[in-house]
Amino acid sequence: MVSLPINANLTRKAVSLTKHLTIISDALQADALQSLIDAVVPATDPAQMTTNASFWYTLGDGPRNIVDSAAESLRQYLPEFTEGVVGVEWWIGRINPPYGDNFPYGLHTDWGINPSTKRGETPTLSSILYLTSVNDGALVLYPEGEESPVGTLEYVLPRKNLFAMFSGNVTHNVRSRKDVWGIPGDAAQARISIQFNWWKFRPTTATGKNLASISVDYNGTIFPELAIAGPGQDRSGSCG
Ligand SMILES: [Fe+2]
Repeated sequence: MVSLPINANLTRKAVSLTKHLTIISDALQADALQSLIDAVVPATDPAQMTTNASFWYTLGDGPRNIVDSAAESLRQYLPEFTEGVVGVEWWIGRINPPYGDNFPYGLHTDWGINPSTKRGETPTLSSILYLTSVNDGALVLYPEGEESPVGTLEYVLPRKNLFAMFSGNVTHNVRSRKDVWGIPGDAAQARISIQFNWWKFRPTTATGKNLASISVDYNGTIFPELAIAGPGQDRSGSCG
């Protein structure tokens, strides 16, 4: 059993910081958040979820789906060191309890292949937007890598509309209360979130990364419920 310090800043609306984690509460406007919830909750239903691919959006390109739109909104919160990012890789996810056991990636650092150098690199910034509040399933950062002393670990619990950011080279995982505090939690909610990784280049598939493919184009065939209706594609069914 390890014991972590309580992050007392979580109830504040403003930006809060630990050493390696920046947290924005109430990150999106209510209507934008609700649109995401309405689409992502069914899209991540295990009965429907057919892929764990990640998608690519070039910033400023014009959103093709509501996650791209969210990325344009969330961009305002990026720290200064992200200057020069050209786009964002995103994917949607759901974890049911036991959260730590069901987190598919384990202890890891996000990465992708830089097509220029053909080498694996970490994103400039990793981030996550929570769509549900769960009193369990903490995101835990290991700033000194796998062997980080317990006292250096930082964490945040999922809270609806909370946006958490950390440098893309920081090792992290998702852990259950029982693993962190030694006391099983009683939370049973689905932990639903959108991950956004911000890059200075568009990464290609990283061998060993536990995603089917990364940074694919969004064309509406996968997760069509996220699409933004364009001209001639009005899905509202309105007949005037
Ligand atoms: Fe990750």
